[in-house]
Amino acid sequence: MDILQLENKNIVVMGVANDRSIAWGIAKKLFAVGANVIFTYRQERSAKKLNLLLEKNNYKATVIQCDVNSDESIATAFTEIGEKFGTIHGIVHSVAHARAEDLHNRFLETSREGYAFAQDTSAYSLIAAAKAAHPYMTEGGAIVTMTYLGAERVLDGYNVMGVAKAALEAAMRYLAADIGQDNIRVNAISAGAVRTLAAKGVPSFNTILHKIEETAPLKRNISQDEVADMTVVMLSPLSRGVTGETIYIDSGYHIMG
Ligand SMILES: NC(=O)c1ccc[n+]([C@@H]2O[C@H](COP(=O)([O-])OP(=O)(O)OC[C@H]3O[C@@H](n4cnc5c(N)ncnc54)[C@H](O)[C@@H]3O)[C@@H](O)[C@H]2O)c1
Repeated sequence: MDILQLENKNIVVMGVANDRSIAWGIAKKLFAVGANVIFTYRQERSAKKLNLLLEKNNYKATVIQCDVNSDESIATAFTEIGEKFGTIHGIVHSVAHARAEDLHNRFLETSREGYAFAQDTSAYSLIAAAKAAHPYMTEGGAIVTMTYLGAERVLDGYNVMGVAKAALEAAMRYLAADIGQDNIRVNAISAGAVRTLAAKGVPSFNTILHKIEETAPLKRNISQDEVADMTVVMLSPLSRGVTGETIYIDSGYHIMG
């Protein structure tokens, strides 16, 4: 029995930079269950890597440019997706960015511009993408975003990104409340530490990996694959009763004192 029921569903995956990206792990699972995956990317560099990955794995997908800092780019991308596929059934929002200096400097030094940039890219982008996709989510569906424990706890070197993730989680809940009436669910996956391009920007990343190994109930770090599995569940009707929720894929780390 196909319990995931994602075959031929049109799922937009935002945020593949390379094969280490959390979004790529999710895309691989989506291909495996027969979904129609539509990718958005920001930079040509990412598009090149993505096309090579697709070729190498013999996956067929539509790849569209979308810079989440630009309303025009978001509107163009989702209009193109909507017109090409008619219906959007799901979105994976796996996008975040902050200025390097705002992760390295003292939090006190956070600039107005750096704060706004992190919020715009990492939190507002969820609202903007949901708004642009909404006219095409006519059969209901699911939106899943990626967050991190730094939203609720002070983690060394996460700084302005922690504040952006807190806003992202709140935005996720407000969206869930607003578009639940259209049978669209919105949830967040709070992933443990995964070695990716974005993670390279967090100065204390290696220390975080070791601390999780020592402290988490499962005494190990989690993998891209584990985040992907739960994301696919959250996109599928298996999780049909869940919305506005943050789900931790972190070996249980967040429960520890
Ligand atoms: N790696 C971790 O340990 C970890 C843990 C918890 C949550 N997350 C979150 O997972 C998500 C994916 O990150 P990742 O770790 O896979 O790293 P990644 O660097 O592979 O992915 C981040 C993506 O964001 C995209 N992006 C940045 N600015 C953009 C813009 N203006 N427009 C469009 N796309 C833009 C990048 O192009 C990239 O593809 C992020 O939200 C990140 O905060 C990561």
